[in-house]
Amino acid sequence: MNLRTRIAIWSNVFNISVLLFFAGGMYLGITHSVDEGINNRLYSTAEATYYIVEKPISSGNLVIASRDFENILRAFLGFSGAEGYVRIVRYDGKVISSTQNVFFQDLKLDYEDLKVLANNREILRDYPAPEGANEKRVRVIFYPIVVDNKLLAYIEVASSLARLENIQNSILQILLIIIPVTIAMLNIGGVIIFNRGLKPLSILSKELKNISAKDPKKFPQWDKDDEFRELFQSINDMLDRFNKACMQTAQFSADASHELRTPLTIIKGLIEVALRSERTVEEYQDILVSILEEIERMVRIVEDLLLISKSEAGEVLIEKKEINIKTLLTELCEHLSLFANEKNIILNCCDIEDITIMADALRLRQVFTNLIDNAIKYNKENGKVSVYTRRENNGLCIYVEDTGIGIKEEDIPHIFDRFFRADKSRKREIGGAGLGLSICKWIIEGHNGYISVDSHYGIGTTFKVWLPIS
Ligand SMILES: Nc1ncnc2c1ncn2[C@@H]1O[C@H](COP(=O)(O)OP(=O)(O)OP(=O)(O)O)[C@@H](O)[C@H]1O
Ligand SMILES: [Mg+2]
Repeated sequence: MNLRTRIAIWSNVFNISVLLFFAGGMYLGITHSVDEGINNRLYSTAEATYYIVEKPISSGNLVIASRDFENILRAFLGFSGAEGYVRIVRYDGKVISSTQNVFFQDLKLDYEDLKVLANNREILRDYPAPEGANEKRVRVIFYPIVVDNKLLAYIEVASSLARLENIQNSILQILLIIIPVTIAMLNIGGVIIFNRGLKPLSILSKELKNISAKDPKKFPQWDKDDEFRELFQSINDMLDRFNKACMQTAQFSADASHELRTPLTIIKGLIEVALRSERTVEEYQDILVSILEEIERMVRIVEDLLLISKSEAGEVLIEKKEINIKTLLTELCEHLSLFANEKNIILNCCDIEDITIMADALRLRQVFTNLIDNAIKYNKENGKVSVYTRRENNGLCIYVEDTGIGIKEEDIPHIFDRFFRADKSRKREIGGAGLGLSICKWIIEGHNGYISVDSHYGIGTTFKVWLPIS
């Protein structure tokens, strides 16, 4: 069952229920008030008649001719005999007085009824109308005339229910026309509103069908200022992200293959050279050392790639433990100073706060190894590298500052991208694969910190790592 049919069914069920509830309420309300009016009229006529006839009856001399009785009622009550009649009946059933046009010649009350009347209580009852009458029912009130606890007579006032029945019939007829017409109109209106409302959705599904991963074209904008504008915008943003992710994945695979191909080509070349002619043991050893260097380089790249893919899949956990930053950085500097000395670079690591923070020691070591390694690699002869800490915003800032070659302004936004190297053509001995900083960024963000860079081309670079203390 499609959405359109489901909404149509539900809205019809709802509309019909509301209409029936409304119509039922209206029918009952009007009927009740007309019914009340008839009862009130019966009571007031009976009561007024009582005051006219009570005295003559109790004195035992009431005999009024029908015509006179009707005239009296007309004069006092404005009674019109068209819709009903009034008669006075003695306790034994003999009619003492009566207006004209009585509907029933004889409405005999049984013993139980007379007992009720003798207790000075009225009886209100509906009777089926006599045959041939316009109405179906007639309402009658029996009103007692009790003197000295004895029922002398009762007043019988009858009213035709034709007016009530007519009103009920009219309401039913009107509702029988109004309800289907209203439902038809609601359905027509509903179809129009539904079609107009769903138009953007059909455009959406048509456009989405045309989008493929190979040709991720731009989605149209929705120019009306409504909720769909936001939806279209969100889809466009999502597609942008999707395109970017697709391009990044493609780029990543291309870069990874490229990075691995270079050492493989070198290894292939070295082996070909070794096989071409017979060589001395020393020559073979040199070739094997070169091959080992290239293999080590490949192992590093593969390890980094593995770490990146695992981190993206959420498989690498940052295991935080209490670590002393001073111990970690001092040890690292001692280790790397050998490498710095080779290049006549001074590695200064003395202004470091003695503080313990919660962090993953292995991962932090990886971060600062890369930052200090970069500061040495991309430095100048007789340059300087300083590692120091400062307190900032409830956290600890660790700076790695160098007096090296610096980074061009246009390269700064890209240095944390995977495989990015500012100088693509630099010598292989210096360069890495360009994965170090992207791994650093992931590790620091995993510690709820951040990493930033400030660099001046030709002058030097400072990397800043902020880590929360608590
Ligand atoms: N201190 C620095 N001074 C100048 N340039 C830098 C510095 N640190 C990083 N860069 C530039 O940013 C690039 C990315 O650095 P990153 O550490 O990610 O890669 P890498 O050192 O080349 O290789 P890897 O770290 O994977 O061995 C470097 O290639 C270099 O061009
Ligand atoms: Mg590096």
